[in-house]
Amino acid sequence: MKAVVLCGGGGTRVRPFTYTLAKHLLPVAGRPVVAFALEAIREAGIADVGIVVSPSVEGQFRDLLGDGERFGIEITYIVQPEPKGLAHAVLCAEGFVGDDPFLVYLGDNLLQGGVTGVVELFRSQGPAAVVTLRRVEDPRRFGVAVIEGGRLVRLVEKPKEPPSDLAIVGAYAFTPVVFQAAREVKPSFRGELELTDCLQWLIDHGYPVLPYEVDGWWQDVGRPEDLLVANRRLLAGIALRVEGEVDAGSTLEGPVVIEPGARVIGSRLVGPVVVGPGAVVEGSAVGPDVAVGAHAEVRGAEVEDSILMDEARVEGGTLRQSVVGRRARVRGRNAEAQLWLGDESSVEIAP
Ligand code: TTP
Repeated sequence: MKAVVLCGGGGTRVRPFTYTLAKHLLPVAGRPVVAFALEAIREAGIADVGIVVSPSVEGQFRDLLGDGERFGIEITYIVQPEPKGLAHAVLCAEGFVGDDPFLVYLGDNLLQGGVTGVVELFRSQGPAAVVTLRRVEDPRRFGVAVIEGGRLVRLVEKPKEPPSDLAIVGAYAFTPVVFQAAREVKPSFRGELELTDCLQWLIDHGYPVLPYEVDGWWQDVGRPEDLLVANRRLLAGIALRVEGEVDAGSTLEGPVVIEPGARVIGSRLVGPVVVGPGAVVEGSAVGPDVAVGAHAEVRGAEVEDSILMDEARVEGGTLRQSVVGRRARVRGRNAEAQLWLGDESSVEIAP
């Protein structure tokens, strides 16, 4: 079995960060969003992984993820020339997939329980497709599935009157018959080839489509605030690990990770907190729920519930619920702010 991770699309809702970095490469809990998908795929026993990317960011993916060896997988990059929808992205992967069954994973989705269950169900039952579902409080915002006799019988996009509370989550398993479906369905009103239409096509043509219900959390990173939610959820799973330096004037409370080469000087860290490789935290109060990127610097500042990307610098002031881009700089004096600051930007906060 192979896997296709969909990392095309425009990521327009996560601007300004996606002006300079693909959504799937933005850091949460110290690692790119898509790294968690790749790990889940490897855990499900799949090593042959195609990643569908937009042409403008292919180089970023290659630089950050390489050939996949670091993740214990082999990555093939597949370019989707234009963001024409999820089913179009899947069609772009047809040459890579060939005659094999395959997992499709939306690269901006995080699933607490991984994808082993959906893969196992697909392997044991041999249907045309398995769709991952999760019960949600307000199904009107999602694609919703109707199940009868253990099979999916109908899918409805963002229903005003939801026929069930089962939302479609970003992981599917398919046989290559889905390529035929993707060639036959018409673009939706938003001009995209939709995966839900392909699933409905399979159902209407008598192919068995099975549901797989997950009960752990599920988070898609579609907006900047989702980055912070994902950050909190992933940080909740870390354990104390100190490989960098912590001086005698500092205190660590709760689960804190200090990566190699990082230095913590005269500071108070309240976990969960991750301090990336080569980062410096000096005279500061950091946490809970903070991920400090590689070679970032925090001096004389308070930071809570935030992501500081690689080489970001925060000097003075208090940041909460903030995302600070790569090489961006915040200078503060007795002032508090909530910022979404893009890469290379600079801001001064004052009372
Ligand atoms: P979306 O988040 O729906 O698409 P997007 O990234 O273009 O979002 P925005 O509205 O902010 O511009 O896509 C879900 C996932 O599917 C995401 O990982 C990107 C991927 N995708 C593709 O690979 N190709 C596509 O043509 C589209 C639309 C999405």
